[in-house]
Parts: sequence; structure tokens; C-alpha cells
Amino acid sequence: MKSLIIFSLFTSLAVAIWPAPVHYEHGNTALWISESVRFNWAGAGNVGFLTMQEVNDGSFRAQSNEYDHLQSDYHKRTHASAAPSGQDIIEHAIKSTKETIFKKNFVPWRFHPRNWKEPENGTSISEVNIEVLGKDPKNIAKPLAGSVDESYSLDLNEKGKVSIAANSSLGIVRGLTTFTQLFFASEKYDDWAYTLSGPIKILDAPKFQHRGLNLDVSRNYFSPEDIKRTIDAIAYNKMNRFHLHVTDSQSWPLVIPSMPELSAKGAYRPELIYTPEVFAEIQYYASIRGVELITEIDMPGHTSSIALSHPELIAAFDKQPNWDTYAAEPPSGTFKLNSTAVTSFLEKLFDDLLPRIQPYSSYFHTGGDEVNKNAYTLDDTVKSSDPAVLQPLMQKFVDRNHDQVRKLGLTPIVWEEMLLDWNLTLGNDVIVQSWQSDEAVAQITAKGHKVLFGNYNYWYLDCGKGQWLNFDPSVSANFWPYEDYCAPFHNWRLVYSYDPLAGIPTENQHLVIGGEAHMWAEQTDSTNVDRMLWPRAAAAAEILWSGAKDAQGQNRSQIDAAPRLSEMRERLVARGVGAEPIQMPYCTMDGMRCQLGYKP
Ligand SMILES: *[C@@H]1O[C@H](CO)[C@@H](O)[C@H](O)[C@H]1NC(C)=O
Ligand SMILES: *[C@@H]1O[C@H](CO)[C@@H](O)[C@H](O)[C@H]1NC(C)=O
Ligand SMILES: *[C@@H]1O[C@H](CO)[C@@H](O)[C@H](O)[C@H]1NC(C)=O
Ligand SMILES: *[C@@H]1O[C@H](CO)[C@@H](O)[C@H](O)[C@H]1NC(C)=O
Ligand SMILES: *[C@@H]1O[C@H](CO)[C@@H](O)[C@H](O)[C@H]1NC(C)=O
Repeated sequence: MKSLIIFSLFTSLAVAIWPAPVHYEHGNTALWISESVRFNWAGAGNVGFLTMQEVNDGSFRAQSNEYDHLQSDYHKRTHASAAPSGQDIIEHAIKSTKETIFKKNFVPWRFHPRNWKEPENGTSISEVNIEVLGKDPKNIAKPLAGSVDESYSLDLNEKGKVSIAANSSLGIVRGLTTFTQLFFASEKYDDWAYTLSGPIKILDAPKFQHRGLNLDVSRNYFSPEDIKRTIDAIAYNKMNRFHLHVTDSQSWPLVIPSMPELSAKGAYRPELIYTPEVFAEIQYYASIRGVELITEIDMPGHTSSIALSHPELIAAFDKQPNWDTYAAEPPSGTFKLNSTAVTSFLEKLFDDLLPRIQPYSSYFHTGGDEVNKNAYTLDDTVKSSDPAVLQPLMQKFVDRNHDQVRKLGLTPIVWEEMLLDWNLTLGNDVIVQSWQSDEAVAQITAKGHKVLFGNYNYWYLDCGKGQWLNFDPSVSANFWPYEDYCAPFHNWRLVYSYDPLAGIPTENQHLVIGGEAHMWAEQTDSTNVDRMLWPRAAAAAEILWSGAKDAQGQNRSQIDAAPRLSEMRERLVARGVGAEPIQMPYCTMDGMRCQLGYKP
């Protein structure tokens, strides 16, 4: 390979792949690609199952109307509840690769000096050969962490031949995602795009198995379109989990057909709901993009919205004005802890919901954060806040829930408090999600549990907007300047500086299966969700895929990351995601001029 450049700083900035691959070599030859490029893929058998005739001969060519179908795969399927096969996933990835390169791409003026001219016509890419080297596991659409090899290799030679190989369908999806990031839209030709970096050789694999984003859709409602757009961006960042915090104290938007009153009374408005059809469609939408949706029904705290339809199940409901004695946020309220009515309710709820999750996910999140013990002084089935009284009841509550989750073949996830504050004995299968500190992650691994990280000081994307509570004039001076508990705003550099393995003993690091960035929605809705999430969640995605340390074992450099993240932001915007800029074009137009402390 002639001019071999690895993350060179001052040559071309336009070599950005986000998240950074493990091994990346490239030259600086321009290669063009046209909309009629062939994607050759032999498939993995079962070809007759596919609807697309192009796939029958093992190839794929663009057709003028193909993009219209992208959004409606789910509706075209006769078996609406069926999860996609590996074949469906690859077929979809090829279609969206072409859509991304030719319809949702951008002209890279921000990454070149003023008056820069795009390259002249030259060699063009003739074919893209896709090869699945291994056999997909049965649950390819809903894998348990670690059960699918997502590695891939990508080779683009001087003659314009491309090979993408992977051991699984999901590896092919990740490889094609990288492939889209090699190309820029042409100013001159609509149906052509070009790379400046040929030839290219990439070998890549994720650092962490579980790479997620959590969106709270209870405190504010998000439309299915918002959610799908978020899933698009998740997949584009090679994240593979979308955690839907679907209910909370403020609203219950999820329709439960056997108990329609839950959303009828608990949703903010009758139309601000997720019907079973929409819920299935969202799960399918995620899984065909190689993203597994994980549903959370938080309990026993964070359940006050249930009291709007089932007041008999909830203790300490909506206490005012001293709600803060009983909960972290208004409205207060928690499941009664020693109530057979609660048990029956949960049995019925899980019986209804879990079979609708099971086709698309191997997990169910039963919550368990911020349970307020004082609330149980107002629980007529307990009337105590004594941990010695409450703890055995909580153990029984969680055991029952997890038994029912396991009956469907699902793996339970809980928030860290269940293990660390309530001292519960949890099954070996249970994954514990940490949010409070690095020490908590270390403690969870010390107890032998798999853990998800996401320290709020780094990865809570809601932080730093200031308070959403209002303060009476008599006390408001005490709270000036109204910062929230997790201020300051977590700039992408702060998100990016998080090293989730710092402080975890080497022998326990295998238990750290991954993490999630979090978007709690007190001050976020449709109007600002894109810019609240992106590109900061992309900074988390790179830590999750590439790790917090670079190939030399050093902290990743902002100076390396910034131009790549700026480019990723352009790619997200081109794909319809309203991601914020992270710097001025001045900073990326002519080498890197916006830095301090850099010694070449
Ligand atoms: C580049 O040249 C090739 C061969 O001459 C031609 O087929 C192709 O259409 C040209 N592409 C563009 C973008 O002009
Ligand atoms: C596929 O699996 C083999 C054998 O485990 C491994 O060497 C290779 O790195 C994997 N990934 C790719 C893209 O071939
Ligand atoms: C739980 O309820 C049962 C049945 O009503 C009662 O006998 C028991 O004392 C209660 N436990 C506690 C801790 O209040
Ligand atoms: C859990 O254990 C800690 C330390 O022994 C104790 O302080 C705490 O009260 C226990 N929690 C409960 C709910 O029993
Ligand atoms: C690397 O980052 C960590 C924070 O994750 C920091 O504590 C440490 O000082 C940094 N190391 C260097 C050499 O700057």
C-alpha cells in the first residue's frame, strides 16, 4: 500500500470512520461509486423466502422506487410478529447502504479549505462482494450479549473491488455501516459518490458486547417517528441495544390490551400511546437494523401512573407538597410491597407483555432504582420503613418477577440499587445496570454479576440544563443559579473521557459487558431530542465500540476525535437526525486549528 496513513492529523481530514476501527489502513486515491454498483451476496440459503427478486440471483441493483419500501418492511410481512432472519437483516442493510451513500450523503466542504475542488472522474468501484463466513446463531435478531461475532473485514483495492466479510449477518451490517462512511456526495453528479482514501483495509470488532442508549418516553412522549429516527442513529453508530424506559410515574403510554385502563387513564392523552402494533413495529424496526430493543417497566418505584387506573396497588400516591419525603420526583408513589393484588396485577401484566417482547429480545428490564423506603410507612400492607421488614418483601417481589421473566426465556436486568442498596440475592443470569459511580460497577463485578456501566457524571445526557422544579420566592435564593443535581452539561468531551474499566480489577473486567448512555426526558421531547442525543451519544458509542484507550493504550485524543465526530455529525444530519455542531467549520477546513496543548 503506497501512502499508508493511520489517523494522520494534517493530511486529509476526510478519513473519518466513527466509531474508530481496530485496524485501519488507507491510501489517498480517489475512487468513485455509482448508484448502479453491484452488491454480490450469495445469501445463506432460504432465498425463496425473500420478496426481492434481485436477491434471487444473488445480486442487488438499485431500482427507482426501492427506497419507498424501506420504512414499511414490517407492514409488508404477513407474519407481523416474526423477527427478521439474518438474510432479512443483510438484505435490508444493502438497501440502506445504497440509500445512505446516494440519497442521504453530504458534500464535505467543511473538511477542506475554501475553494477546494472535488476529485476528477477516475477509477470507479465495480462491485461489492459480501461474504458471511460463519453460520448465524438461531437468535440472530435478539442475541444475548456475546453470542454473536460482530467483527468484519473490509477491503477496497486500487481496481475498485470491494470485499466485506464477517462471521455473522450482524458483522456484515457493521461492515456496511463503515462502508457508507467512506463516501461523500458529489457536487457534480447526483448518482455518484467518491472516497478520497483508496485503497482501504479494515479489520474491526467491538470492544464491548452491549452498546446501548436508553430513552425515557414516559416523562415526555416521543412519537414512533422520533423513536425510529433514534434507532437509525443508534445503528449508524454501531450501537446494538436500544433501552426503552417505557413507563414511569408521570405517564403510562404503553397499551396493555388485557388492561386497557392502564394507558387509557395513565397516558398524558389518549393518543400519546404505543399500541401493540406500533410497539411490535418499533421492535422489528430495531432488530432488522441489528439493534435489540430492551423494554423496561420500572418497579416497584417509578410506578405512580398505575394509580390513575389502579389506586389500590400504589402506596404514597402523589403526596403534596412534601412529595420529596416519598420519592425522588413528583408524583410520589410505589407498588405496595406485601399485596396479593399487586402480585396478580404483575402476573397479568407480564403475561400480556412478555410474549410480545420475546420474539425481538432476550431481555426484560424490571427496573428497581430509587425505591423510597419512607413511602412504605404509608403502605397499608406493610406500614414500616425498617429495612429489616422491607428487605425480605423486596426479595420476594423481585424473585417472583424474575421467575416469570425467565419462564419466557428472557434474561432479567435490574438497576444497581437492588443489589447494592437492598442486598438482594439475584440469579446468576441477572444483569445489573449501574448509574451512580465507578465504585458501584466494581462492587457489582465483585459480587460476580455482569454489569452495564453508564456513570451519570459522564453519560447522563439530560444533565446540565438546570432545574425543572420551580422554587418559591421564599427559598429560591437557596437554589440560585438553579443547577440540576448532575450539572454541568456533559459536553461530548466529558462523555468521551469516561473510561468504564478504570478501577475494575483485571480479573473482573470480563463481567463488564457494556454500557448505555441515558436520556431522561424531564426537559426533552420531540423538538429537542435529536440535539440532546447527537452527537454526544456518538461519543459514548465510540467508547463502547473502540474502548476508552487507543491502540497505544493511551486515553483517546479529542484532537483525533473532533474532526471525525464533526464528520459523523454531518452524516447524521444528512440522514435526517438533527445533531448539533461541535465546532466551527473554521476548525475543520484547513487542518486542525482549534486546539490547545498539542505538540506535533
Ligand atoms: C467516469 O468515467 C467512466 C468511464 O469513462 C464513465 O462510465 C462514468 O460515467 C464517469 N463518471 C462520472 C461521474 O462522470
Ligand atoms: C471470524 O472468526 C475467525 C475465527 O474465530 C476469526 O479469526 C476472525 O477474526 C473473525 N472475523 C472475521 C471478520 O473474519
Ligand atoms: C404481609 O401480609 C400478611 C398477610 O396480610 C401479614 O400476615 C404479614 O404480617 C404482612 N407482613 C408485613 C411485614 O407486614
Ligand atoms: C444492606 O446492607 C447494608 C450494609 O450492611 C445496610 O446498611 C443496609 O441497610 C442494607 N439494606 C437493606 C434494605 O437491608
Ligand atoms: C486518562 O483519563 C483518566 C480519566 O478516565 C484520567 O484520570 C487520567 O489522568 C488520564 N491519563 C492521562 C495520562 O492523561
